[in-house]
Amino acid sequence: MKLGVNIDHIAVLREARKIADPNPLDALSIVKRAGAEQITIHLREDRRHIQDIDAVNIIYHASLPVNLECALAPEIIDIVCELQPHRVTLVPEKREEVTTEGGLDIFSNAEALTKVIRKLKQHEIEISLFIDPTLDNVEMSEKFGVEWIEFHTGKYANLYAMLYGNLANTHHSIKELERSRMELKEMLEEELLTLRSLSCSAMELGLKVAAGHGLNYQNVQAIADIETIEELNIGQSIIARSVFTGLETAIIDMKELIK
Ligand code: PXP
Repeated sequence: MKLGVNIDHIAVLREARKIADPNPLDALSIVKRAGAEQITIHLREDRRHIQDIDAVNIIYHASLPVNLECALAPEIIDIVCELQPHRVTLVPEKREEVTTEGGLDIFSNAEALTKVIRKLKQHEIEISLFIDPTLDNVEMSEKFGVEWIEFHTGKYANLYAMLYGNLANTHHSIKELERSRMELKEMLEEELLTLRSLSCSAMELGLKVAAGHGLNYQNVQAIADIETIEELNIGQSIIARSVFTGLETAIIDMKELIK
């Protein structure tokens, strides 16, 4: 199982002060030394963390492949085509959101998506679609002719947190919290089964499968056990742990859990 480390959160800390440190560029050699396989960054339209100059420097200096997440916005796609990252993961974006809250609606965005995919292919950039785990989404992704899909694991992560008490990371109502443990367990199992069977369907359609969002040291193993998922992209939990252990140890610990 490959690990992409999402280093945006280093830039979140820097942007809190609008100064030079910590610089996400300094993470590149550490991520590689710790054994991760990919650097992931998100160039948001609101530039709340990664700035254009970060993306330029990271793509230029990284010896690992860079997976650049971005929205379908034409202005961003133009920048991305110039930057030429190894892969682009197309994600939904809302200015008011704290983080990417769900997968890309590839049906209602079909027209824009077709144009963006054509353009990225002209620039020989590998493409991944960040989607919610549904069969319709998988089948439609194959029709778009992309190489990768990435399943949004937010629902799985939220259910896990509700069930096993990692409540600080969830945004659910009291009513949701009152669901019986049994019901939550069933929902969690069902979501895992969905992820497992859809990964298999995607692979059979010739798609490579990644997964990410909300994965952490407690919940990652059941996802890592799904053989047809090739790669996990993880940010928040690794950078959070790195505050206490250092980045290298935080990545090594995660690699250990998913190998
Ligand atoms: N994958 C994608 C496509 C994302 O948008 C994000 C969040 O930026 C992640 C993975 C990582 O999520 P987290 O920070 O919750 O680990």
